[in-house]
Amino acid sequence: MGIQITPSILSADFTNLDRDIAAVPSADAIHIDVMDNHFVPNLTIGLPVVEAIRKRTTHELDIHLMITDPDRWAPEYAEAGAESVSFHVEAAAAPVRLARELRSMGCKAALGIKPATPIEPYADLLGEFDKILIMTVEPGFGGQSFLDIMMPKVRRTRELIRGTGLEIALQVDGGISERTIDIAIAAGADVFVAGSAVYGADDPDAMIRALREHGDA
Ligand code: DX5
Ligand code: ZN
Repeated sequence: MGIQITPSILSADFTNLDRDIAAVPSADAIHIDVMDNHFVPNLTIGLPVVEAIRKRTTHELDIHLMITDPDRWAPEYAEAGAESVSFHVEAAAAPVRLARELRSMGCKAALGIKPATPIEPYADLLGEFDKILIMTVEPGFGGQSFLDIMMPKVRRTRELIRGTGLEIALQVDGGISERTIDIAIAAGADVFVAGSAVYGADDPDAMIRALREHGDA
């Protein structure tokens, strides 16, 4: 099975979101970064904008919540029609309960892990999730450098996933480009967020296809 590319609209033109989402028909899902100025030192967009985007695209919406109270807010994004919601384990009060709630609503649940957070304490929880999201930058901003020091964690997470015998996706987010994607593929990731690499390209959709081809090598 090939890899998936989920462009992040954090690097799109916020005054032209409609145009910039239409510019990436090859996307496997649209990655939407929700930040609250508390969990991370940046403020982006929230529920009303996600609801507006939902009306304008048939693409799957991959919501990445970087907020302090996901237990309260994640279900609202499922309700708004998102196919997948990622919340951070560092912020969730009851990650298993929240994952089950999202899945009961027909939404995929994903567990977000910041760079300084180890995966091992959550090994027994992985089966509750459809996807694990390993941050390869400190969350908060697009355009940062890929942290290759996260690759051992990606490898260990892939091993833990294998051990579950379940189909759980492994997404990396931050600094993914044609220069770095091979490193993350080799470590076992299969879903790739790319913000600045896609929207900084002359042809964003061609960049998505070029990134995806790295998975065929
Ligand atoms: C960072 C966000 C990322 C960001 C990635 O906190 O979670 O999704 O948009 O941007 P690039 O690909 O530019 O690192
Ligand atoms: Zn993200």
